[in-house]
Amino acid sequence: MSGAENESEFRDLLDWVTKHTGLKFREDQHRHTMTTLRRLMKMDCVEGFTEFRRRLERNPQLLSDAIDQLTVGETYFFREHQHFEFVRQKVIPDFRTRRGHHEPIRAWSAGCATGEEAYSLAIVFTQEHVSSTILATDLSTAAIEKAQRAVFRPWSFRGQASDAVRPFVTESGDQFTLSQRIKRRVQFQRLNLAANTYPAADNGTCNMDLILCRNVLIYFGAETVCEISRRLFKCLAPGGWLITASGDPRLVEHADYEVVACDHGVFYRRPLNAESAAKPAAKTAAGGRLRSSSPTDFEARQRASETLPDKTLPAKTPFAPPAYPVTKRVASVTTFNAADDFAETSSARQRRDDSDACLAQIKLVAATDPDRALQICRTATVRHPLVEELHYLHGVLLADADQPLMALESIRKAIFLNRSSVMSHFLFASIQRGQGQYGSACKHFRRVCELCALGNPNDVLPMSNGETIADIAVAAQSQLSRIESRRDP
Ligand SMILES: C[S@@+](CC[C@H](N)C(=O)[O-])C[C@H]1O[C@@H](n2cnc3c(N)ncnc32)[C@H](O)[C@@H]1O
Repeated sequence: MSGAENESEFRDLLDWVTKHTGLKFREDQHRHTMTTLRRLMKMDCVEGFTEFRRRLERNPQLLSDAIDQLTVGETYFFREHQHFEFVRQKVIPDFRTRRGHHEPIRAWSAGCATGEEAYSLAIVFTQEHVSSTILATDLSTAAIEKAQRAVFRPWSFRGQASDAVRPFVTESGDQFTLSQRIKRRVQFQRLNLAANTYPAADNGTCNMDLILCRNVLIYFGAETVCEISRRLFKCLAPGGWLITASGDPRLVEHADYEVVACDHGVFYRRPLNAESAAKPAAKTAAGGRLRSSSPTDFEARQRASETLPDKTLPAKTPFAPPAYPVTKRVASVTTFNAADDFAETSSARQRRDDSDACLAQIKLVAATDPDRALQICRTATVRHPLVEELHYLHGVLLADADQPLMALESIRKAIFLNRSSVMSHFLFASIQRGQGQYGSACKHFRRVCELCALGNPNDVLPMSNGETIADIAVAAQSQLSRIESRRDP
């Protein structure tokens, strides 16, 4: 068979898998995908891609095995642990206020892999004495079987918050068996998120108070993401929450979600009632709805919790300054007309209400009192959760204050609000590089290069200190080369 025929059969096979599972195969990973498929074909004594496709059509178990190999079931306990803090501090109290202490919370870990996510949720509910039903689903039967065994290796405990699991496991050599107390709180079943089989009463996917669908949507094409987003919206009870991973595609465009941004991340919610859905509300940059126009109980609690010590992050971690100078960037920004802007709107009320004035004030204060600027900026991001530049500035100030992990959280929010922000991707990558997270840093530096290639090299970048597209493109490219050639320490 010619190379072209082979290639065409390979593509037909991928199209078929996409049609049946929603999985999208990135062009730049085709070679890796082809190697994986060939390995599977060899094990099944199949020569060509077309013959393998026929076998997959006839044999669901073989399809399931193939999917196991083609997707990454990468997971660990309390992954993105701030999401579990959000459940503890916001979702549970919110649920209890609305529905009392006795009704069980209905939760769903959609794309649960080997179960660490669902069990982390079960641990939080146990610690908080919350009655619950937890459904956990995945496309991979092998992953579900492993999840049901609930015996884990140390690799599942690599997250910084995974110590919380220790009281609930019995250790034997390098195996950790989860206690029955936690295990029995989760029901596993196979479910293909790309198939139109939910919401449905018979698979228990209706009326969910909380759905975690994290690090799954990245596998799907835009159309499938849109369909899944709509279906998940319908699965939520009014007031129910949807948590996706910070690297997942945005869902606001597809359904009438409220978007809530807070210290723990950016989350989606099905509006409590039709009235709140119809209420005029601030729109996110992406068109989502935010319930910030009139304060709700939730937001009042959210503000109260701002005073709580942040349990989710280490107080201070050593911060190696990124290659590109972030330090004191804010101070130099104040040389533009910040003082004039501020003078125009100097009343406290205007300052509070006007995010532009907040920005100007923060930049002005940062020149002389960075700690105070950080404080003001933190409050401003709560008051104006949809203003990208405030989150970016918060990130810059946190990085300057040697708080790289919190800085990354803030910049993540800025990126969520504007995926095309060159400066946010650049700052994110620079901090990650300083943290030794080279893989992810490269990803963001590459994104910077892609975005820069779309613009005019002489244009000054928004939120920058006057740097042009060309300046940042060169800086990003140079960082990439350094990391990739491993000249970086
Ligand atoms: C990276 S893991 C995410 C695990 C967990 N949610 C987390 O964030 O740690 C992705 C999981 O998505 C599952 N998956 C991929 N396509 C799916 C589909 N169409 N329906 C359901 N699950 C799917 C994979 O089998 C894999 O277990």
